[in-house]
Amino acid sequence: MGGDWYGARVSKLFSTPLSRKLGLTYPLVAAPMFIISNKEMIVAAAEAGILGTMPSLNARTPEQFEADLKWIRDKTDKPFGINVTIGLTDPERLQQDVELCFEYEVPVLLTSYGNPTEIVKQAHARGVTVFHDVIQLRHAHKAQQAGVDGIIAVSQGAGGHAGRVNPYVLIPYLRRSVDVPIIAAGCISGGDQVAAALALGAELAYMGTRFIASAECGAPQAYKDMVVDATHDDVVYTDQVSGVHANFLKQTLPEEGTPSRGPDAAKRWKDIWSAGQGVSLIQEVAPIEEIVQAIVREYHDATARLQ
Ligand SMILES: Cc1cc2nc3c(=O)[nH]c(=O)nc-3n(C[C@H](O)[C@H](O)[C@H](O)COP(=O)(O)O)c2cc1C
Repeated sequence: MGGDWYGARVSKLFSTPLSRKLGLTYPLVAAPMFIISNKEMIVAAAEAGILGTMPSLNARTPEQFEADLKWIRDKTDKPFGINVTIGLTDPERLQQDVELCFEYEVPVLLTSYGNPTEIVKQAHARGVTVFHDVIQLRHAHKAQQAGVDGIIAVSQGAGGHAGRVNPYVLIPYLRRSVDVPIIAAGCISGGDQVAAALALGAELAYMGTRFIASAECGAPQAYKDMVVDATHDDVVYTDQVSGVHANFLKQTLPEEGTPSRGPDAAKRWKDIWSAGQGVSLIQEVAPIEEIVQAIVREYHDATARLQ
């Protein structure tokens, strides 16, 4: 009897030390997506009990970014995160965006494409949490030295700039190699995969592609429909769009070979649509609240199968 009671209690819990520290109801992040994530998604995610995020550069100017932060702060008092793409952002804009995050008391900064040391120093002086994006151990070690509070392990098959290592290896490998919490990114579309990621030792699941197919997402309807209709066979891993290997929906790549790289590569993300292999498991476009509730049900079903 005692064992059954314990099993039932444990299967009902769906949180981790890190999700509790951040004040989230569930250990889930609606991951930042260039051009795609918006303030509406952040608020819907926050109200659904997960961490909503967006890259600061999704606001065209610092003034627009400040207006977005005000809007978000007005609509929710729950935690959310902002992504700063260090090496892809003009240094002056980067510093302005980071300072605006401090001014509006954004509790979590997500750093990618560069060295987070300076941002971590400034953030920790203000009690702000920093997670850094990596695809390999060398960068995870550097991020740990920089003092980050968590490492986002971006696996093979992820939407956006993806790694080459399968999540079954990447998550436990990084977990054993560093002393900070691991956040699992890549190919997570449902609650069963969240359960798998937590079983592998991750403390948060970082989901991008799943949230392209959300009602709040501002992506064109055709993009959302393609995410619903596509399978992993439609996802192409190439460095020809932005100079860094990333996953794209092949229907949106130019027919005559791939475009040459160049300084305006980022602009191409508007016409060439990125998504991860998790598209195979996405069946419909739904409001973020419904997506989160579906993930919670799937998580409990998955853990019940283990009892
Ligand atoms: C369209 C798109 C744009 C992205 N842009 C960014 C970005 O600007 N900054 C970043 O750190 N990660 C970016 N990512 C990666 C996501 O934050 C996240 O790591 C990834 O989506 C997780 O894999 P999944 O799509 O399989 O869930 C992007 C992903 C997608 C699909």
